[in-house]
Amino acid sequence: MIPPPYLTSDPKSFGYPTVHKRWPIIVSDAIKDVEATINANQAEAIKNLGKIIVGKLQKLLQDFKDDAQVRPFTEQEIELNGDLKVYNEQLNAFPPSITWQDGLWLFLECYLYQYMNNFFLIESVEVPFWKTFDVFANLKWLSFKSSEPGVMELAHHYHSLSSQLNLSGATGATTDAKKAIFSEFVEIALWGNATDLSLLAGTTSLEDIQSVQGKNARTANQSKILINDTEKAWNRLLSTADAGDGAVSESTGVHIVLDNAGFELYTDLVFSLILLDLGITNKVTLHAKKLPWFVSDVLIADLSHLLSQIVDPSFFCLNESVQYVHKIVSGYLANGKLSITTSSYWTRPDAFWSIPSCAEASLKSQLEAAQLVIFKGDLNYRKLTGDVSWDPTTLFATALQQLGETKIPILALRTCKADVVVGLQPGTFERVAKEYKAMGDGLWVSSGKWAVISYHKGM
Ligand code: F6P
Ligand code: MG
Repeated sequence: MIPPPYLTSDPKSFGYPTVHKRWPIIVSDAIKDVEATINANQAEAIKNLGKIIVGKLQKLLQDFKDDAQVRPFTEQEIELNGDLKVYNEQLNAFPPSITWQDGLWLFLECYLYQYMNNFFLIESVEVPFWKTFDVFANLKWLSFKSSEPGVMELAHHYHSLSSQLNLSGATGATTDAKKAIFSEFVEIALWGNATDLSLLAGTTSLEDIQSVQGKNARTANQSKILINDTEKAWNRLLSTADAGDGAVSESTGVHIVLDNAGFELYTDLVFSLILLDLGITNKVTLHAKKLPWFVSDVLIADLSHLLSQIVDPSFFCLNESVQYVHKIVSGYLANGKLSITTSSYWTRPDAFWSIPSCAEASLKSQLEAAQLVIFKGDLNYRKLTGDVSWDPTTLFATALQQLGETKIPILALRTCKADVVVGLQPGTFERVAKEYKAMGDGLWVSSGKWAVISYHKGM
């Protein structure tokens, strides 16, 4: 039986401080950002429409406080963004009085980002300026800029590995060496997820963020990985790698369902380079979001922003190894071995349990023909497991529901920032809760300090 979902009304859930504290900070920051843009812009029409957007964001802040009812999207909104239909369908299935402070946390949080995005879509009907405005772009920029030490360290590591091992084609590396490199870069991509702007709305500071980037932090945190299925994922890649005989030519390679822009995206890019350099796959596809989402999630444009930023001397100090990373990424993008795409599916409000029945046909078949589909981060994990209150010892395969019965081979790399967690050994949840009690307040499972690497091979 499927247990109850997490609700924003439950004081024991991280959904509760989310609606009372985190969302108000996120929306207040968005207001400041639009105001700064209005002040920096000369055109009257842009200023005026910007003021209307600010008014709507202020009303939203008030709605959180008043615990206002969450309304269906209007016809005009749906006309501008057809992806909203599914939100209304699901809203209709809930009790009539779903409010910000009393509803399904996962649904409401997804709804929130679509709702805010509408303010910009509507005001851009006549003046397109606001249409592609990313209200979180400044925050992304600031956080990535403060990640310079981590960016340099990782570039240097990749550069020296690349020259030591002659990674291109990986001619010099044994299978054991390749496996060790793979495991290390899985961890790098995993902890890249600890750099998360949406947590800035809580107590995490930019200094905290820097302290989780880099080799020392990773070594110190190894015991915080509560489940580690890296070896299973490696075996899957080995058994599906193209030996050059065309046997797996139907495969669509490795897919990474991205999470956050900035440092995490950078770690995902270097991880992608490693996968390609090791010759373990011929193609890596990155999946981005279509609209500003959960503050820091990657939009397609964030990839080119990042590539310009890392070689811009006014952003980071010029560095040979970073330039090398830039060159290799650009090369793979140019020859199509690395690509980025998006789909409306990733910004729906429901669990990924619906992939078998309602993901766009082409997306579903691509994922089913993958060597591996890597889901990054907390939100993707909540969607994989339905964001319901599973017992923590529930099998990952069970928590995936219908998705676990498809051919999609899944690897979740997740630092824990919300309530749901599965696949733990009996007693682990309680042991970590005790350990965390000595460290601070709140739930260990939403603290971002522990992580899981969970694999399911598919049917
Ligand atoms: O738990 C805090 C939170 O903002 C959740 O709302 C959301 O699931 C998650 O963190 C976002 O984190 P990530 O970027 O890792 O998905
Ligand atoms: Mg995110």
